[in-house]
Amino acid sequence: MAGALAEWAAKAAHHLSPGRGGEERARPRHIAIIMDGNGRWASARGMPRAFGHSAGVQALRNTVEAAGDLGIEVLTVYAFSTENWRRPPDEIEALFGLLRGFIRSDLTRLDRAGVRVRVLGEREGVPEDILALMDQAEKQTETNQVMTLVIAFNYGGQAEIARATQEIARQAAAGLIDPASIGPETITQFLPSRDWPNPDLVIRTSGEQRLSNFLIWQSAYAEFLVFDTLWPDFGRAQLEEALAVFAQRNRRYGGL
Ligand code: FPP
Repeated sequence: MAGALAEWAAKAAHHLSPGRGGEERARPRHIAIIMDGNGRWASARGMPRAFGHSAGVQALRNTVEAAGDLGIEVLTVYAFSTENWRRPPDEIEALFGLLRGFIRSDLTRLDRAGVRVRVLGEREGVPEDILALMDQAEKQTETNQVMTLVIAFNYGGQAEIARATQEIARQAAAGLIDPASIGPETITQFLPSRDWPNPDLVIRTSGEQRLSNFLIWQSAYAEFLVFDTLWPDFGRAQLEEALAVFAQRNRRYGGL
């Protein structure tokens, strides 16, 4: 028991960093990132948009590595939204190809580093071979504990909540749930993200100030931070800056 308590205290201490005035300020356990600006990064170099997306994959690698080093427990990245189907077919194909390539080339390294991979999003519309790769990535890494990398792919926050609501309604109709007992915690429990903490910090790159249907339920109390940096230029330095800004923010959760 004493051992377990000591372990708990050490883990809790790991997530506190000293703030101004001697108070302890938390470091985010979960950072979620809207990786924006790949297209503009490529255009600025006179290159096709897909070139920006592949540079974006390298930025993702750098960020995952830095997040692990900085003690972040969960990193969620928005790789493809349900709205991205409106893009030209060749760009959609390029994004699919990059996810395929990322899992094939990086899974072993992520697994060895103790990263647990989870995928969020609608399966419908995603090619079979990519679904199989996603399943393999989740299965192979499910017991890893150093960090969780959540890839939001074909993801939409409203669709995810609608899906959870359908299941709650089904169970209520079957008499398994009392409708009067349904509260925010019920919805949380029916979302696939129930297995990890909510984001403390949502970052968007490229200067846009929108949530774009990303983790809209889970980010209710998250701090929001916009970087002008285009995603392919994001990495360790920007993540460290984000942690410094977060440490200065005063999270009140509606209180004083
Ligand atoms: C937004 O930039 C970015 C995306 C729609 C895709 C994000 C994808 C990656 C970073 C690489 C893929 C990674 C995996 C693992 C599949 P944008 O194209 O909207 O840029 P723009 O606003 O400058 O046009």
